[in-house]
Amino acid sequence: MSGFGRECAEIVRAARPGTYRIGMILGSGLGSLAEEVEDAVRIPYTKLSEFPVSTVTSHSSELVAGTMSGVPVVILSGRAHYYESGNAQIMRTPVETLKELGCEVLLATNAAGSLREEVAPGSPMLISDHINWSGLNPLIGEEDESRFLDMSAAYDADLRAAMKKVAEETGDPVAEGNYMWFSGPSFETPAEIRMAKLLGADAVGMSTVPEVIIARFLGMRVAAMSVITNYGAGLQAHALSHDETKTMAKVGMDRMKELVRAFVKEVGNDRND
Ligand code: HPA
Repeated sequence: MSGFGRECAEIVRAARPGTYRIGMILGSGLGSLAEEVEDAVRIPYTKLSEFPVSTVTSHSSELVAGTMSGVPVVILSGRAHYYESGNAQIMRTPVETLKELGCEVLLATNAAGSLREEVAPGSPMLISDHINWSGLNPLIGEEDESRFLDMSAAYDADLRAAMKKVAEETGDPVAEGNYMWFSGPSFETPAEIRMAKLLGADAVGMSTVPEVIIARFLGMRVAAMSVITNYGAGLQAHALSHDETKTMAKVGMDRMKELVRAFVKEVGNDRND
């Protein structure tokens, strides 16, 4: 059940030849990171077969290939979510394309609600593990035994150590925690948030988990960062909204940009990864 990754990678290589090291997926309101890419080519998803054009207003839909901190990177600016189509494999071809372009590392980002008081809106949170609460899996339908994918070390320990190291060096230590995937698109109820907390979640969101499973399936090493845009339902006085997600994601991204650049430099120049 493979997608069109090879075909799409050829289109990217024709526009900008080379082998890439780190692939990134940008979540809601986080697109400004793509502006940091140097020597860039930008390819709209409409030119890449099976790339899903996101219907979410805070997502652009383009692939940006170039360099960051001197490291060849490919950024997927805009992701599609399960809730847009009911297809948990919607990001299969985009992730395959990163892999075909040579990316051994995926850095996934998202906007998320915090369940921890000390991890406030505007802060980044490094994802240490996830809870797949959706009951969905992008590997459903895979026919051989590779579908029984080991997820015991989904979020690479060395990449997490690298992120924590660069965060400390920038003087802004990063929080770390478990991300719980709800399908969305409605936000959670306060009762669901209380449940999520009891089950060990530190943040909740509507994305990332399918891409992480696909990337691990393809043999990529994965790191993921949430930008906290709000407290979970019932933990803050006001109602949740996508407007708040967009506004706070921008605030958080301004803080996270330096971190991502430093991470790319650290990981991209480590020839052992
Ligand atoms: N819940 C789910 N998804 C989100 C949230 C939230 O509180 N904030 C941003 N994305």
